[in-house]
Amino acid sequence: MSDATFTEPNPAMPRRSDFPKGFVFGAATAAYQIEGHGFGGAGPCHWDSFAATGRNVAGNEDGARACEHYLRWAEDLDLIRDAGLDAYRFSTSWARVMPDGVTVNPEGLDFYDRLVDGMIERGLTPYLTLYHWDLPSALADKGGWANRETAEAFAEYAAVVMDRIGDRVARTATINEPWCVSWLSHYEGHHAPGLRDIRATARSMHHIQLAHGLALARLRAAGHRNLGIVLNFSEILPAGPGEEAAVDLSDAISNRWFIESVARGTYPQVVLDGLGGHMPQGWEADMPTIAAPLDWLGVNYYTRAIVSHDKGAAWPATRAHEGPLPKTQMGWEIYPQGLRNLLVRMARDYVGDLPIVVTENGMAWDDHVQDGQVADAVRRNYIAAHLGAARQAIAEGANLQGFFYWSLLDNYEWAFGYARRFGLVHVDFDTMKRTPKASYHALKAAVSR
Ligand code: FCB
Repeated sequence: MSDATFTEPNPAMPRRSDFPKGFVFGAATAAYQIEGHGFGGAGPCHWDSFAATGRNVAGNEDGARACEHYLRWAEDLDLIRDAGLDAYRFSTSWARVMPDGVTVNPEGLDFYDRLVDGMIERGLTPYLTLYHWDLPSALADKGGWANRETAEAFAEYAAVVMDRIGDRVARTATINEPWCVSWLSHYEGHHAPGLRDIRATARSMHHIQLAHGLALARLRAAGHRNLGIVLNFSEILPAGPGEEAAVDLSDAISNRWFIESVARGTYPQVVLDGLGGHMPQGWEADMPTIAAPLDWLGVNYYTRAIVSHDKGAAWPATRAHEGPLPKTQMGWEIYPQGLRNLLVRMARDYVGDLPIVVTENGMAWDDHVQDGQVADAVRRNYIAAHLGAARQAIAEGANLQGFFYWSLLDNYEWAFGYARRFGLVHVDFDTMKRTPKASYHALKAAVSR
């Protein structure tokens, strides 16, 4: 793919001055994808066992070493500061903080304490995510997210982390991408725990929302503020005429289930109809907890989906189609307009004036270091186009307050192992050498003060 495949061949890179005053530019990561996992007192998590099970992850790779960020965190924070970025979105690992899901590992908490201090020393604003998928194996053994007790244990873990670092983080998100935690992992089986089970799906879809609600209540009671959740959205489009029902159902499963429950305290009926008998008993009573007021909404956006009804297939009987647009290394269509559409939709239909932050947006590419440089013009254009879409959403009234590129570093891309490079910074996984890519320098030029 050449750069000319963008709708606008070389989209102009918006600059800091094109955004409202105080707009936050940052980069994002997640603990399991970068830290390295089997040391520092951390316990095993369900991604370790998922990855150790043949055929789940490309190359059977796991997060044991990852980017060695646990050892190299100071260098990584320097890279964020040197890019002229304002903020860093990171996550704490539940299995590091509580190796058995319950008992605190002081070494784990100390690590995050140092990390947050390191951000502040460098003038970086910490954005915390409490759950980015590293569920302690001890809790997975008891049913993981299919078990209501996991939601209760999460609230306890959230309180422990916030008790230690909550005084220094600017915004906190409870859960990253509940659709991935539940549907992708329990219905499609693509992520840990790798189930294909509708009952576990129904339960996890409710319990992950409940975990958010219980943690929110717990953290509010402890006096914490700026609490939110990070949801992933995709614009769903029809593969052809007459596909309204398929679009509606896919949108309900991927998007509305999650935003509607936190914003209004309801689940879309069309999904309940499909999951019906498998929902945990008494779920209705949890809805006010799930819909407790938020302080901000995190939006992760990558691409769109094109769907049709899949005749004769079991519920939900929808099928995804390959679209015609240029694609990233993930095979995801590049569709910046979708970001504008979703941000406007969120503000208009669900959250009104509530602050919204793009907590993830980025692309994977087959990047290589040549003569000490990584020429990733395509990523520079991707960022320019999506920042442009973000500006458009602001102009149309969305209260968008920040944009975080995914990801700071090439890292462990879950079921794809280390074979998908999303970073602004290239990582050589043999030597651990970090090399800022051309897109890093382009973003730096755009946001520097
Ligand atoms: C999101 C995840 C993140 C990363 C990107 C590419 O779904 O939150 O960890 O894998 O996709």
